[in-house]
Amino acid sequence: MSGTLQPAATYASYLKIDELLSLQHPRSDEHDEMLFIIIHQVYELWFKELLHEVDRVMRLLEQDESHRAQHTLKRILTILKVMVAQLDILETMTPLEFLSFRVRLDAASGFQSDQFRQIEFALGVKSEQAIHRFAEPSRARAALEHRYHAPTLWDAFLQYLAREGYDVPAACLRRDTTAAVEASPEIQEILIDLHHRDVKNAELCERLVDLDEGIQEWRYRHAKMVERTIGAKPGTGGSSGAAYLRETVGRPLFPDLWAIRSRL
Ligand code: HEM
Repeated sequence: MSGTLQPAATYASYLKIDELLSLQHPRSDEHDEMLFIIIHQVYELWFKELLHEVDRVMRLLEQDESHRAQHTLKRILTILKVMVAQLDILETMTPLEFLSFRVRLDAASGFQSDQFRQIEFALGVKSEQAIHRFAEPSRARAALEHRYHAPTLWDAFLQYLAREGYDVPAACLRRDTTAAVEASPEIQEILIDLHHRDVKNAELCERLVDLDEGIQEWRYRHAKMVERTIGAKPGTGGSSGAAYLRETVGRPLFPDLWAIRSRL
């Protein structure tokens, strides 16, 4: 074998522990700011992992590997549960503890998380406006541009259903993938039929509903946490705060999968 010999990995070198532990820089002397920084950094790491797994689900559906796609969806759901549960930790911070350093955040806000927008884009919640909030050129801007034009998980699912023999309308298969996922009566008919006679794919639908519900659960819990921490004050990111967040709660990712429930 040729090539340079790599030094044997250690825990610290493999995981870049020194680099990781050097990335927390509170802007105040307030005790709780460390928790605030670490929890956001942990979320960004989970966002990275979620994107990695959502991309895998799409590839597996493209390869008609529905069993493995379901397995990966289960992992995504487990991560989402952990992500929602982590909000409990932040809720141990009282409004006054947060206010002790809030002013030091300037305009910084989760609103500016490009990875959160990437997750939304991959799951079909697309907004051209969201892309323009990120400077050009930057990693964030390039990633969002790419995901904005790429098909969503719902598109991968519809293409998969067509290959499974379902009569998915051509207009749905060729839809503008930069547009929001709209409810479709034709798709709903297909899904109702599928639920009655195709256990394998009905299970897959249930995992997609789990994912949809999991994202809604995060939005709800985050909105409530914001409300109990800053009440009706505007957000540091420039929105109306809790009122804006409440509007995003309860909007399904995959409206057809919800619409059929009352007709099953
Ligand atoms: C005390 C804790 C927190 C407060 C008070 C808070 C507050 C807010 C507010 C007010 C917004 C609306 C946008 C704005 O005007 O700023 C927002 C958005 C957001 N926050 Fe938080 N947040 C907190 C913790 C977190 C954590 C731990 C995360 C994890 C990454 C997070 C992620 C987000 C995301 C992704 C958005 C955008 C949501 C959307 O546009 O639908 N936040 N946050």
